[in-house]
Amino acid sequence: MKYLRKDLEGMVPYHTPYLTEGIILNANESPYNAPQQIIDLYVEEVKKINFNRYPDMDSTLLKDAIAKAYDLKRENVACGVGSDEILQCLFNAVVSKGDKVVVMNPSFSMYSEYAKIYGATPVMADANPDFTFNLDNMLNAIRNSNPRMVVLCSPNNPTGIMLSEDDVRKIIESTDALVILDEAYIEFSGEQGLIKLINEYSNLVVLRTFSKLYAGAAIRLGYALSIKDNIDLIDTVRSPYNVNVLTQLMAKTIIEHKVLYKERIQYFKDQRRAIYEALTKLGIEVYPTKANFLWMKLSDKINEALARENIYVRTMTFNGEKYNRVCIGTPDEVEEFLKVVRQNA
Ligand SMILES: Cc1ncc(COP(=O)(O)O)c(C=O)c1O
Repeated sequence: MKYLRKDLEGMVPYHTPYLTEGIILNANESPYNAPQQIIDLYVEEVKKINFNRYPDMDSTLLKDAIAKAYDLKRENVACGVGSDEILQCLFNAVVSKGDKVVVMNPSFSMYSEYAKIYGATPVMADANPDFTFNLDNMLNAIRNSNPRMVVLCSPNNPTGIMLSEDDVRKIIESTDALVILDEAYIEFSGEQGLIKLINEYSNLVVLRTFSKLYAGAAIRLGYALSIKDNIDLIDTVRSPYNVNVLTQLMAKTIIEHKVLYKERIQYFKDQRRAIYEALTKLGIEVYPTKANFLWMKLSDKINEALARENIYVRTMTFNGEKYNRVCIGTPDEVEEFLKVVRQNA
């Protein structure tokens, strides 16, 4: 790339194939569409849209609906094109060339990618060998690197482990850096998460998304919750009409009817226990999770068999070892996955 910034040399364009067939267990999406009742309400409202007009650039009605759901104010909410865009805005507004950003390792790769894009250096705080969270590594990384930003992910992608409230408090209290707590998968845990901490700590931003439990990956809507001063960081650097009118409308409809998703949480809890037990019985290395995916080590033979059957799972390398992150599908999809694993274990 002739015109690429010199400090980005070595980075490559990001593409993944758009899959529409086969068993898709590689993107941590919901295997179920949004509830029909929500889709019907949305379609009725779409008919009333003035497509000739720009959307509300402040997503006011959507922000109010999100704020109401968490007993917050509109000024505590920022909306973006997925939490990806929110992350990008936060990095853009907060970090400069030469800054350090402490991230969990392993964790969602975009944290390190954004750090690099904005000229910062990611500092890795390694998990324990069993992938549980290592608080000392995190506190040492913060103490030694004096970061501008710390990014936590709970439940963590790709391992599914959850950080305790105690640990999160210790981390936030140990630093003046802005702490991002990405709770993209929190709804699957069945727990409330730590949004409540934004009322106590001025250096905390919590991220949530419609892409996972809420089955809205297609609309691209993520949001940040924090004190106004941190929300302003995002609104200072984002593009003017970032969230389109269709997305604002669908996301508002979803959040206003989020009770319709309640029973899905139990489904994911049951399935992750069943998959964990089935794989453990087969002698496969698999880790407990609070998310809609499981972190495991499948042999090359199993990976090849899954690929042959068009069952898509994610393969990642950590410390030179290959692991898989497998997302929970429908009961039929889970059964197909387990069948292939059993046949090749
Ligand atoms: C931990 C984590 N954060 C953020 C995202 C981005 O989500 P969104 O679809 O809201 O951009 C993902 C996507 O997989 C994720 O795993």
